Amino acid sequence: MFMKKHDLVYLTEDASHDAAIEIINEEAFGPGRFARAAARIREQGPHDLSLSFICTDDGETIASVRMTPVMAGGVRGHLLGPLAVRPSHKNRGIGRELVRIAVEAARRQGSEGVILVGDPPYYQPLGFEKVKYGALEFPGPVDPNRVLIVPMGAEIHTRLVGVIGYRA
Ligand SMILES: CC(C)(COP(=O)(O)OP(=O)(O)OC[C@H]1O[C@@H](n2cnc3c(N)ncnc32)[C@H](O)[C@@H]1OP(=O)(O)O)[C@@H](O)C(=O)NCCC(=O)NCCS
Repeated sequence: MFMKKHDLVYLTEDASHDAAIEIINEEAFGPGRFARAAARIREQGPHDLSLSFICTDDGETIASVRMTPVMAGGVRGHLLGPLAVRPSHKNRGIGRELVRIAVEAARRQGSEGVILVGDPPYYQPLGFEKVKYGALEFPGPVDPNRVLIVPMGAEIHTRLVGVIGYRA
């Protein structure tokens, strides 16, 4: 009997992954993805390849998470996203593992927090907390109940007030 053996590998993103990641994000979010408030921040500057990761299965890229440096009020942090897993590979813990890897990498680099706009039930078990209602001003409309952060360090929530935007 032949059984296909899945061989998942997690790697730091590089330019050779661009085309595959574009397809994965298109499949997950569709053409409306560029209009989202978080996407407007990502348009302000490049993501940080050293904190962005992919997952491959038998060499094929099947999931991606990207991280962009931001100032969020007085916090020097990172914006996580997009996070997407190909439908064929959902519900195997790949999304969770990519988030875990990206958050730990940011922590090692001295980030003060990983921020995202996403579903609290998915992200709260991964260490994300709700940002105080309306504390961060995004470059576009955002549901304040979905703005989340893994705070890294003391007093982060206190300083997490003001505009969020790309940090050069
Ligand atoms: C959301 C997504 C990244 C999850 O990746 P994944 O590898 O399938 O997820 P995992 O295997 O790590 O986790 C699966 C678990 O999360 C749950 N889950 C998935 N999406 C969820 C959501 N939006 N809210 C709450 N729980 C969710 C699943 O039900 C599953 O629960 P279980 O472990 O109890 O069975 C993936 O489904 C995807 O790419 N979706 C489309 C794009 C998207 O919505 N990205 C997130 C933007 S915020």
